Amino acid sequence: MSLLNNPLYTAALSCWSETDAHSKAKQTLALDLILGEPGAGSDFSRRLRPALDDPGRPSMPTLVDPRKLPRRGLGSVEGHAAFIHAICHIEFSAINLALDAALRFAGMPAEYYREWLEVAVDEARHFSLLAAHLGKLGYNYGDFVAHNGLWAVANQTSDDILARMALIPRVLEARGLDVTPAMIDRLHQHGDDEGAEILAIILDDEIRHVAVGSRWFLYLSRARGLDAAQTFQQLVSRELGPRATAALNIDARRAAGFSEAELDWLSGNGEDTR
Ligand SMILES: [Fe+2]
Ligand SMILES: [Fe+2]
Repeated sequence: MSLLNNPLYTAALSCWSETDAHSKAKQTLALDLILGEPGAGSDFSRRLRPALDDPGRPSMPTLVDPRKLPRRGLGSVEGHAAFIHAICHIEFSAINLALDAALRFAGMPAEYYREWLEVAVDEARHFSLLAAHLGKLGYNYGDFVAHNGLWAVANQTSDDILARMALIPRVLEARGLDVTPAMIDRLHQHGDDEGAEILAIILDDEIRHVAVGSRWFLYLSRARGLDAAQTFQQLVSRELGPRATAALNIDARRAAGFSEAELDWLSGNGEDTR
């Protein structure tokens, strides 16, 4: 039987395909209700699944190479709005990435699908909070250009769930754990306490998202008989090049399931076991 007979799957697929950002967020938030129903049918593993191309996204914002993004300070309303817009775009992409993790990969336990759909609901909430905040500054999602970096990595990992778990939640989302505290301070300094509060909610939720990535990365490493720390190093080095050197948010990363060996290696101190 096809997965298209599963109501939770078809609802999630419709969120994934939706091209309007606000309807995508609204529909994804509504997945929470279906997930709350007993026996919501998050077992997506054993039935025939349709082949997936790319999730829906609006024609605006225009996506550009991250190096081509204009740099603006937070001093002007436009600069402030551009900063909020950039995070709003990350959250929009995160809705698609979480739905994609749930819909694209076969053969995982039911909790895998449920957990990624719950992440998608959180991301839709983050997007909506930031889009509303952007509205208060007089701008909409789509008013500035945005970067395409997240999708480049999603495409690189669309045929390997282990690489997806390593590189999207455990590298890109985990980077958010490192940089968000300074962004919260910056917003406070510029008098945007409400924006800072939204980022604090996001930071808290993102620890859980990275932990979901860690859990399934470990599960898959074990299932394939691989050493998790070594596999992580190999994937990060092969797919993303040299390690980032910026400071790590060690406490948040520990809470999100990074081992001491991984943290040492990411900080540039640990043993390279590749
Ligand atoms: Fe988020
Ligand atoms: Fe997230």
